Amino acid sequence: MNKKIIMLIVAVVIIAIAGVSIYMFTGSSDTNTNNNQNNNNAVEDDTNDNTNVTSDDANILVLYFSMSGNTEAVANIIHDEVGGDIIRLETVQTYPEDYDELVDYAQEEQQDNARPELSTTIENIDQYDTIFLGYPNWWGDMPMPIYTFLDNYDLSGKTIAPFITHGGSGLSGTPSNIQEEEPDATVPEGLAIYGDDAKNSQSDVREWLNSIGY
Ligand SMILES: Cc1cc2nc3c(=O)[nH]c(=O)nc-3n(C[C@H](O)[C@H](O)[C@H](O)COP(=O)(O)O)c2cc1C
Repeated sequence: MNKKIIMLIVAVVIIAIAGVSIYMFTGSSDTNTNNNQNNNNAVEDDTNDNTNVTSDDANILVLYFSMSGNTEAVANIIHDEVGGDIIRLETVQTYPEDYDELVDYAQEEQQDNARPELSTTIENIDQYDTIFLGYPNWWGDMPMPIYTFLDNYDLSGKTIAPFITHGGSGLSGTPSNIQEEEPDATVPEGLAIYGDDAKNSQSDVREWLNSIGY
């Protein structure tokens, strides 16, 4: 008789434990489901955000000229931050690869106030409100292909945000030259990055973008 009662108690305890376990399992399974739904919502929200960014940044162009890759590195960082399109400006006549020859060639072009022909065409310039315009400092000025670009396109009403890479001379007043070429454009403060620092200029780029409202 005693044995029967003990068996009964054991059975009741086992059933109780099983019941609690099933409840807990079911409960936690629900929680997981909710979490997953929340995560899904988060993914959907992200997707919406990205969609918005895409439509917002369709009016941004990062345009740059670069010979040895420094300005290109900064252009890519800016593009990662602001989105939009990115285009490398290239010329019909390629530049000498030898550094000394390039230095002489560029100086001559500048003295001649040349307008080297561009092989890059920007079909849809009207769609852009903001152009981030990047170039290396060449002889204390912009490379002449940048002047060709400014001559070829009417950038009235647009914002042209200049960035330069250099070997010590900084911006050398080049934003003023852009403003002279494009009097009806807005030219905010430019960004100057020392050439050797170009690949690691993320924080300078972010600070500059913030300062000019991006
Ligand atoms: C033709 C030429 C002229 C240059 N003149 C200057 C200059 O006057 N001042 C300066 O700080 N750096 C000067 N530099 C150095 C470049 O501005 C620097 O290396 C820049 O980061 C190169 O950019 P890139 O790699 O995009 O071509 C000159 C470089 C070249 C090739």
